[in-house]
Amino acid sequence: MSAPSDANPTGQSLWGGRFSAKPADIMQAINVSIGVDKRLWAQDLAGSRAHCRMLMAQAIITAEDGEAILGGLETIEAEITGGTFPFRDQYEDIHMNVEARLSELIGEPSGRLHTARSRNDQVATDFRLWVRDACDRTGEQLKALQRALVDRADQHAGDLMPGFTHLQPAQPVTLGHHLMAYVEMFGRDAGRFADARARMNECPLGAAALAGSPFAIDRHATATALGFDRPMGNSLDAVSDRDFALESLSAASICAGHLSRLAEEIVVWMTPQFGFVTLPDDLTTGSSIMPQKRNPDAAELVRAKTGRITGSLIALSTVMKGLPLAYSKDMQEDKPPVFEAFDALDLALSAMTAMVAALRPDPVRMRVAAGSGFSTATDLADWLVRELNLPFRRAHHVTGAAVKRAEALGVDLMQLPLTELQTLEPGVTEAVYKVLSPEASCASRQSFGGTAPDQVRARIADWRRRL
Ligand code: ARG
Repeated sequence: MSAPSDANPTGQSLWGGRFSAKPADIMQAINVSIGVDKRLWAQDLAGSRAHCRMLMAQAIITAEDGEAILGGLETIEAEITGGTFPFRDQYEDIHMNVEARLSELIGEPSGRLHTARSRNDQVATDFRLWVRDACDRTGEQLKALQRALVDRADQHAGDLMPGFTHLQPAQPVTLGHHLMAYVEMFGRDAGRFADARARMNECPLGAAALAGSPFAIDRHATATALGFDRPMGNSLDAVSDRDFALESLSAASICAGHLSRLAEEIVVWMTPQFGFVTLPDDLTTGSSIMPQKRNPDAAELVRAKTGRITGSLIALSTVMKGLPLAYSKDMQEDKPPVFEAFDALDLALSAMTAMVAALRPDPVRMRVAAGSGFSTATDLADWLVRELNLPFRRAHHVTGAAVKRAEALGVDLMQLPLTELQTLEPGVTEAVYKVLSPEASCASRQSFGGTAPDQVRARIADWRRRL
């Protein structure tokens, strides 16, 4: 910036007046954050513009100085977008880099921009703006993923597959029903990001260092200019909480958990043993040694990103724990986990959307699997209750015996001779076979939200309206 002078012997720090020595190398090394927080440049410029205009409107700075500042900020924006802006470690963070550059560009008026402001309310504002955008972007990505799932569910609303519990065949479902389960999950995830956004949408700017400002600032004006609903109500809280970041990371962590489950299912379904789905060449990888391989790397990486994302939540929760009010430098460590988590989530959502759109199910193999493992045993028990008025526990016992007998004979329930069934329960008639096919089993589950294709199609129609 300027050469060392009597007033500022260190010649570089914005707080040079009180200091007579430069920071040690290690001080600078641990303190510097520009490498990370340069990502806040657009938010930092937006905050500075709003603050500058408010200072002008309140006659805290002159129109002339204000215009000079706004012009300088314009130049800085052009430099940053043009790739010529000098990001310098010596100026610690994005706020000081912008201010130092502003001083080089416009000289004295630059020093008036920081009137009634502190980096504490500045960074809190910038970071809220960034996280708010990230929540909005994630909401859009979730919608895109949901649309892809709804489209695939529509195509496969009538295609049977085994439904599992404990990853053991349980009852037949449809692939459409299975995919729509994730549409519900991702819908709640989107709701969590929207809730977090609504709660975070209050403006810290004007809290200044911690106690507010003696200048006649207009916090409502800056809040409105930056798209916030209102200024935050307590200046200490405004500069010192990062719950908005934690809440977004919680939403990200839960969402990553959902993604990991679908990713895991794709991995399992793609094994030759299952053979339920394949992915096209461009979404799989091969092996450098085993020529036969087609690996679901993208799904595995989506599954793994959960570690980073949930790790980020733990990291920031731990940073924030036990911090006294108001600002502490610990809070500079808030940005890396948030950037890392949202970068990972962005990739994971995009990769999952691409995989869902490209998935090639094998309805024949899934249908065969749906009918194996005595998957309609519950239907037999239900029939005994409905038609013969057996208590369910008794019906369950009879059915268990039927499964045991079928297993011994090496046949399906469908193929178990009527005489065998009648040995176990004399009232059984030929009509029972109607409920023992996987198709009948699925079609009978007409309860709201059940797997019957009509039900699934109704939920698909609901979601199409909402998306
Ligand atoms: N780089 C700092 C951060 O991210 C900006 C705020 C610095 N405030 C301070 N009082 N040292 O938190």
